[in-house]
Amino acid sequence: MKLPAQSRYTLAADLSICRLLNGMWQVSGAHGAIDPARAVDAMFAYHDAGFTTWDLADHYGPAEDLVGAFRRQFAARYGAERLSEIQAFTKWVPSPGPMTRPIVEEAIGVSLRRMGTACLDLLQFHWWDYADPRYLDALRHLADLRDDGKIRHLALTNFDTDRLAIIAGHGIRVVSNQVQYSLVDRRPDSRMAAWCMEHGVSLLAYGTLLGGLLSERFLGRTEPNSAELNTASLRKYKQMIDAWGGWGLFQELLAVLKRVADRRRVGIANIGARYVLDRPAVAGAIIGARLGAAEHIADNARALNFALDADDVAKIEPILAKSRDLMRIIGDCGDEYR
Ligand SMILES: NC(=O)c1ccc[n+]([C@@H]2O[C@H](COP(=O)([O-])OP(=O)(O)OC[C@H]3O[C@@H](n4cnc5c(N)ncnc54)[C@H](OP(=O)(O)O)[C@@H]3O)[C@@H](O)[C@H]2O)c1
Repeated sequence: MKLPAQSRYTLAADLSICRLLNGMWQVSGAHGAIDPARAVDAMFAYHDAGFTTWDLADHYGPAEDLVGAFRRQFAARYGAERLSEIQAFTKWVPSPGPMTRPIVEEAIGVSLRRMGTACLDLLQFHWWDYADPRYLDALRHLADLRDDGKIRHLALTNFDTDRLAIIAGHGIRVVSNQVQYSLVDRRPDSRMAAWCMEHGVSLLAYGTLLGGLLSERFLGRTEPNSAELNTASLRKYKQMIDAWGGWGLFQELLAVLKRVADRRRVGIANIGARYVLDRPAVAGAIIGARLGAAEHIADNARALNFALDADDVAKIEPILAKSRDLMRIIGDCGDEYR
């Protein structure tokens, strides 16, 4: 299978990504057991199909080690010169504390070693507490490490619009901010997307498929109980649906999405992904992959091969208009973590 040219996005002059990124939270252990050998085999299947871009984090269990193993096997199979085909974006999610150069450098060194590379393609930084301004110290050191060649591009995750402006005001360049963005959680539409468009910062979306809730699997189903919500992702986004408008409204949304999907000869998940990919400032959507345990490669490729028109969006919008305002209930992007 070959993905179309529009599946790629230029995140930076020297960094082309697949607009559907493979999310590796799903290998952390919180979504069922993962067999490392099968997981690496699955990484080849994603890559060979054109899904060349990976999203992971220092705290996603073995994710960084799996990228390291994949890179080693990839170099042995295809030659080290083709390693540049892989984009692996990790995160640094430090516990609160001092952010000195040695502390920052040591953390990045661990990721470099685990991932088996001399330079991280993209380092996405998370910070838990805005009242502690040391995130600016961390970002300055990360920017220096970028200038030293250890990080190709610096990025953020779960930062709100006000903090993006503060960081830019300190002259710290970032290429992207990774935030929750879906048909249910449209908070980036309120302020962040416009700011990002103005300042040349891209958004990477997660939660786009609501952990799998946004699919035929849950269409027409009674509200799932805790036993059915058997991954951390399903539990997280069921809570989001509850805050947004509840299971009844979500069923109305799934029913409309099914009509739109049938018209387009795709699936409900494809409509959810396409909707987010078409929003301003969105570079890509990250879709979680339970590597070696479940696989949606061919299905998700369909999201890169069609367009939604005004009729489709006009069918969806009235349902979304009935939902609660998550900006008011939760706050801006990332506030759910603070
Ligand atoms: N920065 C952050 O704070 C943050 C937070 C959460 C996630 N993330 C990133 O985003 C990634 C995505 O994770 P997520 O939790 O947001 O989950 P998600 O992508 O919304 O959902 C992933 C699940 O959707 C199901 N799925 C995938 N394709 C499908 C299709 N075509 N049809 C039907 N179901 C499909 C799969 O379920 P099955 O496996 O059961 O088939 C998969 O495990 C993570 O891996 C991580 O990289 C970042």
